[in-house]
Amino acid sequence: MLNLGILISGGGSNMESILKSIKQKKIPINPAVVISNNPDAKGLIRAQKLGVKTEVIENKDFKDRLEYDKKIISTLENYGVTPKNGLVCLAGFMRIISPEFVKKYKNRIINIHPALLPSFQGLHAQKQAIDYGSKYSGCTVHFVDSGVDTGPIILQAIVKIKKGDTEKTLSKRILKEEHRIYPKAVKLFAEKKIKISGRKTIIS
Ligand code: GAR
Repeated sequence: MLNLGILISGGGSNMESILKSIKQKKIPINPAVVISNNPDAKGLIRAQKLGVKTEVIENKDFKDRLEYDKKIISTLENYGVTPKNGLVCLAGFMRIISPEFVKKYKNRIINIHPALLPSFQGLHAQKQAIDYGSKYSGCTVHFVDSGVDTGPIILQAIVKIKKGDTEKTLSKRILKEEHRIYPKAVKLFAEKKIKISGRKTIIS
């Protein structure tokens, strides 16, 4: 079975939605480890409550991005999350990962972003959508490539932006959709139902 590593920085609600689906035997994947760059991430406790091993790797202990990512990679490998038999999910992991990490785990790292990519990449995507005057936003699960929020799209969900929405209210409704589509995307990957063809994914 594939081994899953989840990288988080905060609340870990997406992580939890994936782990719960695995527990309910909806996804054939072994939840090997959750790694946080933030020792205070609430997601660490959530993962432990679900019986999943956790590790904290703080960026301040490393001289640069590459050294930090090398430590993440060696930790993932220690838990069997290898480039051959692993899947890495970024779930609110608020760091850009190095090209070396992306290359090593080619097409095996996926991310969730709270907007309909390619619109509103980067931070505060929900606020960006409101400020732009968009009528709809949503969320996107995509493969990670060497750009920021640019890799092939796996699944998306649409959320209507309501009059008077704030970053907080919109984020809450988008998050609900994130919890629905992220486990679905992990399941598609684990069941080998996603093929990548250039910029596109083909889902069988
Ligand atoms: C989610 O909304 C996720 O899409 C976003 O951070 C939140 C994490 O929540 N990620 C990004 O903005 C990455 N660019 P969670 O920790 O409760 O899953």
